[in-house]
Amino acid sequence: MPQPIDDTKTLKAFHRLPLAWVGFLLIVIWTMFFVWDNVSHRGTMKLLTMRNIHNRAAMGIENVIIFRRWNALHGGVFVPINDYGVPNPYLKGLVERDLATTHGDSLTMINPAYMTRQYFDLLEKDTRFRGHITSLRPIRPKNAPDSWERQALESFEKGSTEASVITELDSTSYFRLMRPLVTEKPCLKCHQQQGYKEGDIRGGLSISIPIAGPLALMNQDIHRRTLFDLIVWMLGVAGILIGFSKLDKADHYRLEMLHRLMKLKRKTDRLNRELEETNALKLMLIDTMTHDLRKPLQVISGFSELALDSYPDDPYITRIDQNVTRVFETLNDVTILAQTALGESIPLEEVDLVPIVQEVSGEFTNLLEAEQLSLKMDIPQRCIVKAHPVIREVFRNYLSNAVKYAADGKQVDITIEETAKTVTIRIRDYGSTQIPEEKYPELFTRHFQDDEIHHGRGLGLFIVAQIAKVLNGKAWVEPNRPQGNVFAFSIPRNPRE
Ligand code: HEC
Repeated sequence: MPQPIDDTKTLKAFHRLPLAWVGFLLIVIWTMFFVWDNVSHRGTMKLLTMRNIHNRAAMGIENVIIFRRWNALHGGVFVPINDYGVPNPYLKGLVERDLATTHGDSLTMINPAYMTRQYFDLLEKDTRFRGHITSLRPIRPKNAPDSWERQALESFEKGSTEASVITELDSTSYFRLMRPLVTEKPCLKCHQQQGYKEGDIRGGLSISIPIAGPLALMNQDIHRRTLFDLIVWMLGVAGILIGFSKLDKADHYRLEMLHRLMKLKRKTDRLNRELEETNALKLMLIDTMTHDLRKPLQVISGFSELALDSYPDDPYITRIDQNVTRVFETLNDVTILAQTALGESIPLEEVDLVPIVQEVSGEFTNLLEAEQLSLKMDIPQRCIVKAHPVIREVFRNYLSNAVKYAADGKQVDITIEETAKTVTIRIRDYGSTQIPEEKYPELFTRHFQDDEIHHGRGLGLFIVAQIAKVLNGKAWVEPNRPQGNVFAFSIPRNPRE
């Protein structure tokens, strides 16, 4: 019996899935990912760019310090006096500043600070980097610090070793880096007079690098990344939207199918109920026929036999008796048909076909003798199948047909052939009524009407076909050479396997 639909359980399945929410959430997550990626990329780029600029400035200062030390180690370096090698007025009195060579050329001393200034002039021409040597107590007034340099120098006095800032110089953005210049031993040659000792902060070096260029490069990179992110983001969003619209369609479809299924299920339930009612009706019908109709018929039959005994030559009574017998036969047929129509519900049991064949042929002994028909049997000792005793009707039908229509053949053979899985019964006659092969398929149908072959076969073969169907077997006819027909019936040993 089919399960009735549990509506409370299925009701949940009828809800639309919250696809819009899931899709929205996915887009939000996707967007957040790209915002995060973009922001973190910007941060990294800025950090890298600033570190790069800082490194360049730091390297510049370090180089200058080394070159200055080289100069100081020489205690100042002499160059020829000319437009470029102008004697330094601040050296006057500190050291022996000017010399004359043996050839009469004049040389003047370049001290580290002077060299530094000339180097910074050259540097600015080439790179637009600006450099400045300065001190809180400058010997040369032009070496005085600007306000930021002053702060830095003061911080060096307090122990810090570097200062940096991003600022505007002549309305251009600069990164400025400054480090202290510490008094070393060679410096004392010229600076001892001012009271400096080894380790004192003598002043500082600042380098300023314009950052517009590197920042533009950085921004270009950031913009490129943003564009790329945007494209990937849009592709993702489009993918999500398309995917979810497809899912949405599928969900629609799912619901529609569910509704259809529900309808179908209701219909099947109804049909099943109807079927059960029909089956109950069939059972009732069988019951009516087997009991309610049979009983009065038996009474009539008893009395008609009695009457026939008393008046054996009365044509009316003979007719009554014959017809009562026919009604009996029809009743039997219809009962069996109704049983087989119940199909699966007929109970199967172990049946030995051999005694059944013997019994049925026993029923026909008188008729066979009357028609001078000889019956040959080729059957085993036992033949057990899972079937229903109604199978008896198959033999009965086949045999009675053979007697009725093939008596002129003088012989009927019954064979039972067995294999592991199936059993095949054949009833072979040698009569002159040859059934044409094209009629074979319709022979077993309910409406077969061909008086030549059929006249009065009644429900017989249709019943055989029904029994075959119920037992999962088949019934068929084949020609017997040179004359006659073979009615065959084959069933599996266990139809429910
Ligand atoms: C040969 C002499 C000489 C030696 C060696 C020397 N300086 Fe100077 N230094 C000067 C003179 C002269 C000035 C000032 C004018 C100028 O800018 O040239 C000066 C200027 C400076 C200034 C700029 C501030 C100011 O006073 O104008 C600093 C800073 C400085 N020296 C640091 C040092 C350090 C550090 C050393 C050692 C590595 C050193 N100097 C070695 C002669 C010397």
